[in-house]
Amino acid sequence: MKDSKIKIRWSNNNETYASEGDDWFSTAEKAGLEIPAGCLTGSCGACEIDVNGETIRACVSDIKSNKKSLLKVSLTTDPFWES
Ligand code: FES
Repeated sequence: MKDSKIKIRWSNNNETYASEGDDWFSTAEKAGLEIPAGCLTGSCGACEIDVNGETIRACVSDIKSNKKSLLKVSLTTDPFWES
């Protein structure tokens, strides 16, 4: 049974809760964010996000708790998308 709630603070200042093992894409949607996706196999890097300062690839990572059970997430900024 998954009962540990992990608090996630997103780059748009929304906060959501997730359980260990949840997937990043649907959790980001709940916060009103869309994590870009490409290959979905971990090779292209389109889905990279920063979690507590560590870059991960969302398509091949599950949500994991840390000691504080607070994850600060920002979508990595790709200069291509900046205006
Ligand atoms: S979608 Fe390509 S690495 Fe995640």
